[in-house]
Amino acid sequence: MLHTISKDLGKHQQQHLLQFIDELDKPEQDKLLNQLNDINWDSLNKLIPEYVLQQPQTEIPRDLAPAPYFPAVPQDVEQQKLYEQAEAVGTQLISDGKVAALTVAGGQGSRLGFDGPKGTYPITPIKEKTLFQYFAESIARINEKYSISLTWYIMTSQLNDSQTKDFFAENSYFCLPQSSVKFFIQGTMPTIGYDGKLLMKDSSSLALAPDGHGGTLLALKRSGSLATMAAGGIEYISYFQVDNPLASIVNPLFLGLHHLKKSEMSAIMLAKTGPHEKLGNFCISGGRTTIIEYSDMPDELAEAVDANGRLRYIAGSPAIHVISRNFVEKLTANGHLELPWHRADKKIPCINSAGELINPVEPNGVKLESFIFDAMALAKKTMLLEAKREDEFAPIKNKTGVDSVESCRKMLIARDRRRLAQACIAIPANSAVEISPRLIVDDADAITYASNNNINSITTSLEGIYLK
Ligand code: UTP
Repeated sequence: MLHTISKDLGKHQQQHLLQFIDELDKPEQDKLLNQLNDINWDSLNKLIPEYVLQQPQTEIPRDLAPAPYFPAVPQDVEQQKLYEQAEAVGTQLISDGKVAALTVAGGQGSRLGFDGPKGTYPITPIKEKTLFQYFAESIARINEKYSISLTWYIMTSQLNDSQTKDFFAENSYFCLPQSSVKFFIQGTMPTIGYDGKLLMKDSSSLALAPDGHGGTLLALKRSGSLATMAAGGIEYISYFQVDNPLASIVNPLFLGLHHLKKSEMSAIMLAKTGPHEKLGNFCISGGRTTIIEYSDMPDELAEAVDANGRLRYIAGSPAIHVISRNFVEKLTANGHLELPWHRADKKIPCINSAGELINPVEPNGVKLESFIFDAMALAKKTMLLEAKREDEFAPIKNKTGVDSVESCRKMLIARDRRRLAQACIAIPANSAVEISPRLIVDDADAITYASNNNINSITTSLEGIYLK
């Protein structure tokens, strides 16, 4: 194998990848050769000049228009009826076991700078429960509410798979049935220096990175998860990101509209806070739903307003989807799926030509990722539903500032205070509140809790109010 690979690398001007091969022991040599053997050079040789040696240009289609969506609040009696019907249908789909939850947790969380899988980050404001525990408790309550055992698919990457699985095992799967939590691993891509040379993590390994959340679809196929879903009667995938604890695990209205509208892939949309908010923009072009990344949106389009002074491209993507299993099967039927690639400039730890480890302080190379939302353009039918940001989206990307641990905790507290207020439970002003999702997972639960327990006020303790 060494001879063939060495010849190949010569052809692609990547000989440096074998620079230390003679210093490695046999298992290390095999590891490196296997990684090199897995590389699809035909594809990389096209990607490097297009995405690494120059900044890729995204063409904005001439016929681009804002994508239509269902508003958060129904606008007339007819829409009110549709939403009621959809909610009933969605509830039935969940109760019938036709829905699985899917959390993508394969990312590297580099902006957060946390050592470990992001799902193990302690997020809740009082009890400091991790993201994974928070979702697990929500699922436990959903199971109770709908009398089901919801299957929870968690996508990891080679870089965090064993840590993630160990974390669940150490915590006894947070009391969920172990068989209902299913892990699958996404693919990887080599990282590439600005000179077009692949980077090495150490002398026996490439600096590989997960291939983006767009890798979910092919990973579902390759891991056999699609087949187990089909065998288990699962028709719809409720998709959300590990760093957004506000996301509903299953949303009956959203699922019901997806089903009634015969959508193949649906998305929650949020009204953007401003023209340059860092969210993808839902648009249509050529009759297809397409998402234009905030960084690719020309200013004149991002800032355009309608007759009422409202942003024309108002619909931002919080990365919450319902995806039909059939659609994923169709897309991945031949074992391949080429979604567009996106370039991310990153600080990638790697070795230099002397074999020394470099921890760069500035970006030194490119990670290529595919994005799940690009699959919407491949769907014959899509559906967008507006949600209120305060109910659905509190992403943790950074430690402080916008989309941070800080802002997420504030939003969790505000949401729980709102739920208690809706249930007419009085609480002292300004006290922190954390409600275990094991007890209350949605607004209706709060009202039931208040009336079942005959509660109309709660006093605070030193740490704040914790309801479990
Ligand atoms: P982000 O794009 O925010 O990336 O992922 P990230 O890795 O969490 O953080 P940065 O960019 O390195 O700071 C959004 C969601 O998609 C998942 C992440 O785990 C997160 O839930 N993701 C991202 C994957 O599962 N795989 C990937 O390859 C990338």
